[in-house]
Amino acid sequence: MALLEILHYPDSRLRTLAAPVADINDEIRALIDDMAETMYAAPGIGLAATQVNVHKQLIIIDISEDRDQLQVFINPEILSRDSEVAMEEGCLSVPGIYETVTRAETITYRALGAQGNKIEESVTGLLAVCIQHEIDHLKGKVFVDYLSHLKQQRISKKMLKQQRQAM
Ligand code: NI
Repeated sequence: MALLEILHYPDSRLRTLAAPVADINDEIRALIDDMAETMYAAPGIGLAATQVNVHKQLIIIDISEDRDQLQVFINPEILSRDSEVAMEEGCLSVPGIYETVTRAETITYRALGAQGNKIEESVTGLLAVCIQHEIDHLKGKVFVDYLSHLKQQRISKKMLKQQRQAM
């Protein structure tokens, strides 16, 4: 296993559209392991392959208290959305920034699990929000895009300053 480098906003590679995973092979399984290690180390509750510069439709989430309930979603797709909820979100690609975003409160989604098993279910609350946030990454979208232009500019400036200081 290995820690992967996480791309930071406003890196243009975060805008890449992810391609479907055609085959759940050893390469994908190794990627899942590395992404999990990277997410737990960060620490974060969700990570999309896009964020580690791998442009495949793969996301992982763990919202459990004990950090031992890894959920893997391959080729995830939202089938329906219901109600709205405003939640404060953060993102490993936008460290230190937390802003409220309104999304569907309940979603029905379809995906493949780590073993290629088909999943289709309705989820609500934090998990529904996380899945929407991570699927956005696969489409080249980050949560900052939902904020006002003024806020986007401010966040962008702050991130670039942080990145310069880290060099
Ligand atoms: Ni994110």
